[in-house]
Amino acid sequence: MPAALVTGAAGGIGRAIVERLESEGWSVHGVDVEDADLATPEGNRTVVDAALERFGRLDAVVPSAGFQHVAPIHQFPEERWDALLAVLLTSPFLLAKYAWEALVASGQGRFVAVASAHALVASPFKVGYVAAKHGLLGLVKTLALEGAEHGLTATAVCPAFVRTPLVEAQIAAQARAHELAPERVLEEVILAPHAVKRLIEPEEVAATVAFLVGEGGRAFTGVPVTMDLGWTAR
Ligand SMILES: NC(=O)c1ccc[n+]([C@@H]2O[C@H](COP(=O)([O-])OP(=O)(O)OC[C@H]3O[C@@H](n4cnc5c(N)ncnc54)[C@H](O)[C@@H]3O)[C@@H](O)[C@H]2O)c1
Repeated sequence: MPAALVTGAAGGIGRAIVERLESEGWSVHGVDVEDADLATPEGNRTVVDAALERFGRLDAVVPSAGFQHVAPIHQFPEERWDALLAVLLTSPFLLAKYAWEALVASGQGRFVAVASAHALVASPFKVGYVAAKHGLLGLVKTLALEGAEHGLTATAVCPAFVRTPLVEAQIAAQARAHELAPERVLEEVILAPHAVKRLIEPEEVAATVAFLVGEGGRAFTGVPVTMDLGWTAR
């Protein structure tokens, strides 16, 4: 049975990925803050070791842990920048580094990072998140080149806004930053860049991850897999 490590497993997207992969016969080690702080090297080492101890193998690593901080650049706290980079960029790097030998041994290892449309385009007031997600795409491209001779692929799923606590939590901050009433934020800020005016459901992201770790995903490597409701078509 193939085995996967999924981070952010208590969150909207991570939980949906765990459920979807399990329903397709994967053994899944899902982790979140109660298991380890992925902002630290030890935390990332701990979760990779635990997955390997539990399953004796790793065929897929899916970093999905994350959070958002919304503030204009001149007020953006340095410690939030550091924390965003640690969780959104350094954690995927460390997970790949620590799991690399196991993914190579798999012969068909998959590294599928949950990135964002913000790996491709920017929005105001999200400097830490946007910089980290752009960096994550660079990480994935490099892993794709290093993994190629081992049958190991690396991709970055790039969704537009998904209906999860991460989005709900930023409505108040977006209202402050854009000087809008909170009830106007969804339509006027969050859905503004979407050509299709709806939120993506977590299960839709999970279905894309399941495709990428499956047989049909073998040719996808070193690329963003964009599911952005037309955001970047403009
Ligand atoms: N929700 C969206 O609109 C959206 C869009 C594009 C990309 N994404 C990305 O999808 C991923 C999942 O986001 P989500 O919407 O499910 O958010 P979420 O807030 O529902 O879940 C994120 C999870 O990450 C965990 N986490 C955060 N910091 C951690 C740490 N230091 N150590 C361990 N776990 C930690 C949280 O506890 C939480 O359970 C994130 O990387 C996010 O950037 C989300």
